[in-house]
Amino acid sequence: MALAVDRADRLIDEVFRETVHLFSTARDGLAIIGAFYVVKKVINISYNVFSMIKIHVMSRIFRVDLKEKYGPWAVVTGCTSGIGLAFCEELAARGINIVLISRSLSKLSAVIQTLESRFNVRVTAIVADFSEGPSVYDNIRKQLDGKDIGILVNNVGVAYDYPMNFLDITEQKIWELVNVNVAAATVMTHIVLPGMVERGRGAVVTMASGASTMPTPLIAVYSATKAYLDYFCRAISYEYKKRGITVQCLMPYYIATGMTQYSTTLPRPNLIIPSPNTFVRHALSTLGWVDRTPGYLPHVLQMWIAHHLPEWLWMWGGNRLNDALREQAEIRIRHRSGSNPSNQMKTSRSSSAASVSSIGDPVL
Ligand SMILES: NC(=O)c1ccc[n+]([C@@H]2O[C@H](COP(=O)([O-])OP(=O)(O)OC[C@H]3O[C@@H](n4cnc5c(N)ncnc54)[C@H](OP(=O)(O)O)[C@@H]3O)[C@@H](O)[C@H]2O)c1
Repeated sequence: MALAVDRADRLIDEVFRETVHLFSTARDGLAIIGAFYVVKKVINISYNVFSMIKIHVMSRIFRVDLKEKYGPWAVVTGCTSGIGLAFCEELAARGINIVLISRSLSKLSAVIQTLESRFNVRVTAIVADFSEGPSVYDNIRKQLDGKDIGILVNNVGVAYDYPMNFLDITEQKIWELVNVNVAAATVMTHIVLPGMVERGRGAVVTMASGASTMPTPLIAVYSATKAYLDYFCRAISYEYKKRGITVQCLMPYYIATGMTQYSTTLPRPNLIIPSPNTFVRHALSTLGWVDRTPGYLPHVLQMWIAHHLPEWLWMWGGNRLNDALREQAEIRIRHRSGSNPSNQMKTSRSSSAASVSSIGDPVL
């Protein structure tokens, strides 16, 4: 009996020793995995911080000569106000001649006058309403044929009149969103890119949006059209990088322009919501340094946070924000006109008298 007890004691001791040994081996293993994870994280964070400094600080110190690098002319779509106009001003300030494309002849004439009087560059314009679809491109192609275009800024874009559910937007609005946001950037790139490839230099800059970070409720079609642009740019960037072409996709969050004038708060510039000129000054300095960026440092931080959110939280937050903006817009509409907002939704912006024509100097 005593022998049996003694053996059982020894067995328990043995099992205990083996277990302790096993745990200390596992602890060592876990410590190695932990150390590896920490080193990886440190390298990752250091790399991101370095990239951020390089893209958003060094790029502004060591400015790329855009004219020399890409060519003497730029084409800017949707250029009579907001971000497009700011692109024209910033490019002209860097000595680049501009081809303007928008739908209003009178606004284009005013922009030509302003740019030519402020900067020593040539400015010409093509009147085109991209919402009309395929019919506008033949004339644009003819007007641009044989021109040394170094930079194409696919800026034109339309949003909802204000955030709303999918079934509250008209079919006409859906086609406008597809024709202006998706087709214009795609076909304009198809028109301009061959010349760039032939010359072995050029840049295509496209205005997507932070709204495409994830699907966004109450601006579903807008956010989806911008996600298309993101995918489109990433793929053609890969295809044409080796041919000397830079394809950059800009994905900013709110910028204080007429596009958000349905809200009482969004069109006022601040640190988070920059003015179009502040945004473009930052964004253009990143051209040639990075192919996919919000373009503005505070928006880079916003995107970093957004990428770490689970999709349900993004959707919930987006829905809450857009619902508040919808309410704000409907109150404004009621105050202004005393009319029913649902009637307002059905009124689309009127297009210019002439669908397509051109003004200004012939482009050389
Ligand atoms: N504002 C923001 O918060 C924000 C944020 C992220 C991305 N974005 C994107 O940035 C781009 C510019 O936005 P924005 O805020 O500067 O817009 P905006 O202030 O509304 O200006 C739009 C410009 O496009 C022109 N345009 C509108 N519809 C057109 C059409 N059918 N055909 C030809 N031209 C047309 C307008 O000129 P005419 O009226 O003279 O034709 C105007 O010059 C858009 O792609 C937008 O999606 C904006």
